[in-house]
Amino acid sequence: MTRDDRLPRDAQSILELAARSMFELFANASEGMLLVDRTGRVVWINDQYRRFLPALGFEREEDFVGHSVSSVVQNTQMHQVLETGKPILIDLLTNKAGTFVVSRIPLRDEAGAVIGVLGIVLFDHPETTLQPFIAKFARLEQDLNDARRELASQRRAKYTFASFVGTSPAAQEVKRQARRAAQSASPVLLLGETGTGKELLAHAIHAASPRAGRAFVGVNMAAVPEALMEAEFFGVAPGAYTGADKKGREGKFKLADGGTLFLDELGDMPMAVQVKLLRALQDGEIEPLGSNQLIRCDVRVVAATSRDLQQLVRNGQFREDLYYRLNVLPIRVPPLRERQGDIPLLVEALCEDIAARGGSAQHELDASAQALLAAQPWRGNIRELRNVLEQLALRSDAPQVDAALVEQVLRESGLERIEPPLAVRAAAGPALPAAADDWVPLPERIARIEREAIAQALARTGGNRAAAARLLGISRASLYDKLGESSDFQTTA
Ligand SMILES: Nc1ncnc2c1ncn2[C@@H]1O[C@H](COP(=O)(O)OP(=O)(O)OP(=O)(O)O)[C@@H](O)[C@H]1O
Ligand SMILES: [Mg+2]
Repeated sequence: MTRDDRLPRDAQSILELAARSMFELFANASEGMLLVDRTGRVVWINDQYRRFLPALGFEREEDFVGHSVSSVVQNTQMHQVLETGKPILIDLLTNKAGTFVVSRIPLRDEAGAVIGVLGIVLFDHPETTLQPFIAKFARLEQDLNDARRELASQRRAKYTFASFVGTSPAAQEVKRQARRAAQSASPVLLLGETGTGKELLAHAIHAASPRAGRAFVGVNMAAVPEALMEAEFFGVAPGAYTGADKKGREGKFKLADGGTLFLDELGDMPMAVQVKLLRALQDGEIEPLGSNQLIRCDVRVVAATSRDLQQLVRNGQFREDLYYRLNVLPIRVPPLRERQGDIPLLVEALCEDIAARGGSAQHELDASAQALLAAQPWRGNIRELRNVLEQLALRSDAPQVDAALVEQVLRESGLERIEPPLAVRAAAGPALPAAADDWVPLPERIARIEREAIAQALARTGGNRAAAARLLGISRASLYDKLGESSDFQTTA
């Protein structure tokens, strides 16, 4: 190990001396040394090493020295060094004697053949001697685990059908269709205005599907720059680029393998990507950028858009073939104005969520405040409603929110003012701010509500009085009676 024939004699002897003093230095400064021969048998230990024998389970030295190292030291890697001839300069070894920082160095004869291994225990109790390193390592490990967990939870569906609040006929119908779609393997296309819950439903469909145990991976076409979209979808092969992507990167298709790929804002997908997406969906194979290999991917696609896809197809902005490929199970998600009956429930659920996220007490809206919200035309749908409720929670000092504050927040948010329908105003009751001269006594209010309900029932049944009476839950006679009292109604029957 220390002989070098190219050196002059005195240099050779200096080298040998250096090797010897290094050995002695290690022997004294380390916590122990042991030597194994080429068969892996322990042939020597120094005095310091002897201290470890009881902890390793040996009272007498002869039960240790002379035996195969792997039978007397658990988890040792000395055999590996014998086999490979490569040193392990630093390693952590844990066994019943404790945890040690160790070094293993192969010993060679003059011909270079491995004749044994020198094992050095550099430190015992590394938890104290190496405290700063170990603490740092533990911190990094913790960060890594947190990041992994975070990633895994992001890839799991965030919502289930239970998260889709609403009992109105329109809400029930959309949930029924989505539940059915969850059982199918075909692509789903969620169509609806902004803020109607398309993304929520996409998560719920995944969570109720046989793929629930696998990843849910979303790509938002409106958020990814066009130039990066291909790499985002299909990944990049190692070495395709220099720099950041040198190691390669998996695309969303691969990440969603076995699970669901959610294509959000589908209407914003660039034409060039549409072609590749279509091919990937047809063949079930993708080709990462810079690679000439095809990778099989089994993904179920759920797409969403608030844009009119058919119009985009007509304008030549969306490929017709891709449209038909994705339009297998279209689900129209209704806007809030078609399910106003759900507003009180939604207000309740959203206020609960806002309070939970903000760590504050939940606000309650009184009847008049609720009535105002229910009467509002929500262009931004549930997202807009949520914004208003968030502002109310911020602005209200009391746990009870009244109509005056709702009115103020609505107007300041630039929402259009509308007159609540009579029935809503009446339901809002005395809490609605009303000028003294415009006070309506109770019997008159009840009469107005009745007239309005009858008008609606007749409108809905096309003037069929029998059906209208059934809808109203009163007898036909009683309906005639009420109609006789009022001359406002235009009926056809
Ligand atoms: N039925 C519902 N019950 C409870 N919360 C809902 C419901 N629908 C939507 N939300 C909430 O409203 C917000 C908007 O929903 P989401 O993001 O799913 O809408 P979107 O249709 O994808 O809108 P956009 O087209 O603008 O992306 C989210 O915070 C969501 O949790
Ligand atoms: Mg969305």
